Amino acid sequence: MERIYFDNAATTQLDPVVLDAMLPYLTGKFGNPSSIYSFGRETRLAIETARKSVAKILHANPGEIFFTSGGTESSNTAINAAIKDLGCTHIITSPIEHHATLHTVECLHKRDGIALSYVNVLPSGHIDLAHLYDLLKGAEGKCLVTLMHANNEIGNMLDLWEVGEMCKEFNAIFHSDTVQTVGHYPFNLHKTNVHFITGAGHKFHGPKGVGILYINDSVKISPFIQGGSQERNMRAGTENLYGIVGFARALEMATESYEEHRRYISDLRMYMVEQLESHIPGVVFNGDLYGRSLYTVLNVSFPRTDKSEMILFNLDINGICASGGSACSSGASTGSHVISTLNNDPDLVAVRFSFSKNNTREEVDRVVAKLKELI
Ligand SMILES: Cc1ncc(COP(=O)(O)O)c(C=O)c1O
Repeated sequence: MERIYFDNAATTQLDPVVLDAMLPYLTGKFGNPSSIYSFGRETRLAIETARKSVAKILHANPGEIFFTSGGTESSNTAINAAIKDLGCTHIITSPIEHHATLHTVECLHKRDGIALSYVNVLPSGHIDLAHLYDLLKGAEGKCLVTLMHANNEIGNMLDLWEVGEMCKEFNAIFHSDTVQTVGHYPFNLHKTNVHFITGAGHKFHGPKGVGILYINDSVKISPFIQGGSQERNMRAGTENLYGIVGFARALEMATESYEEHRRYISDLRMYMVEQLESHIPGVVFNGDLYGRSLYTVLNVSFPRTDKSEMILFNLDINGICASGGSACSSGASTGSHVISTLNNDPDLVAVRFSFSKNNTREEVDRVVAKLKELI
């Protein structure tokens, strides 16, 4: 049985070209980037070349890009720094953020008494920007606004520019979890009023365990890991050399074919919508399917029956990978805080299918045929 992988929002397959770029740094070129002899300088150069390339793609300055272990570390760092170093005393977020954000802000609220407000989510799954404006207007003290660019479960996208301008008006710090969009959409950080964004290599065919934190030049934060001068004294510890090289190569490759991949994957997603609508009675789609949404994510609810309750398990038995709640945060199906915020209908069971350039229409046909049988 050949496996069908429809869980690309959880993670993607490493591209062989990216692996090729990484291999020399896993084998012969192993010098410590902090060593002063040429063998070390060679790997230092690889890291700085990667940083420049990432900065150029995102339209940022190289000094604004910090390599981290991934999206979770980047968001934790940005949020904590906004409180500790930038004078924020009030956090505004939404109930449908990734747990990397939600658990961090909840901890700051409970442990340190930082004020915390949740902006309303509209039935479409979009953030209520009028409510955000009111929260900013009514807040006492400096605010941190942390809102994700694209929701990893339903795919809805935020207008970064608009929220950035709103934050500017109220002198608020703006952090956006862009883990689902870096490598999938173009960015121009020189023109966007955002202080922190995040990225994770494994979401766009790069390696796991490596990511970026963008910190706008206008804000200065203190070191987030102590003990060495790496990452310009901000994040100590010998760098994930091959990961960083792989991150940059994967981002370069994604950038070269943005449009081609976007077209191909969007078509595939809409093909699955058509097939589901014609073969599965009672199917409904979560999020803003035809509007501002990731082209990679399709969140579907099926009528709840004895059979559909076991859907993920049965898909797995049939070699099909999809997810229920946030697959990247746990193996267990504990239900989704995003779906329950949007629509707490006990008669529906939600499944997220997420696609990559490696998926095909034939796979969609096989998954829909299997769903028809299973539901
Ligand atoms: C939106 C979002 N934010 C953050 C993360 C966490 O990233 P990482 O697992 O690389 O730490 C993920 C998924 O893993 C995600 O989808």
